[in-house]
Amino acid sequence: MGRKSLPPTTLLFPTPVVLVTCVDQKGRPNIITLAWAGVVNSEPPMIGISVRLERYSYGCIKEMGEFVVNLPTEKMVRGVDACGIVSGKGTDKFELTGWKAIPAEKVKTPLIDESPVQMECKVKQIIPLGSHDLFLGEIVALHVKEEIEKEKGRIDILKALPVAFCTGAREYWSLGKPLGHYGFTKGKP
Ligand SMILES: Cc1cc2nc3c(=O)[nH]c(=O)nc-3n(C[C@H](O)[C@H](O)[C@H](O)COP(=O)(O)O)c2cc1C
Repeated sequence: MGRKSLPPTTLLFPTPVVLVTCVDQKGRPNIITLAWAGVVNSEPPMIGISVRLERYSYGCIKEMGEFVVNLPTEKMVRGVDACGIVSGKGTDKFELTGWKAIPAEKVKTPLIDESPVQMECKVKQIIPLGSHDLFLGEIVALHVKEEIEKEKGRIDILKALPVAFCTGAREYWSLGKPLGHYGFTKGKP
């Protein structure tokens, strides 16, 4: 089989796909779907999200200095797509998806009730990169639905049912099967 050289692009797949909530200065909430999101630090716990300057959410996150990362489940995939193709400038995406906004603990931005994991973040740094600005957010509160927890505080993936985005294929995927636990090659439990 041959191998093709292509112009450099961000062909890293899969990536998580997350629902980021934010508010404008009047407290009007919005939801934006993001695939350019990831963990960037452990202590303090931090997440990075890259947002294009032209997104309606960009101004909300920048002005308010906060956002919430809500993890979707497979059941929420239609809403994930809808929040990624419609702008909140003229549309109420909570109304569009039928999801419920519930108050957060440490930020003004609401959480998506249907999401099993929500991370409230305060913006610590904004790094302009080109097409996107990278917002580095510190997680100041974390919420996990009890129903997705296994023993010892572990997450039950079969209950959390996360969604992956495969750039290149431009498709949403569910996870397949577990391949081994962390440290299994050394016989760690
Ligand atoms: C799967 C998927 C991933 C996306 N990832 C990003 C991203 O990482 N950064 C970004 O700026 N836009 C991303 N978008 C586009 C925004 O979600 C989209 O433009 C959205 O309508 C913007 O909403 P807003 O105008 O209400 O902020 C993505 C869209 C989809 C469908």
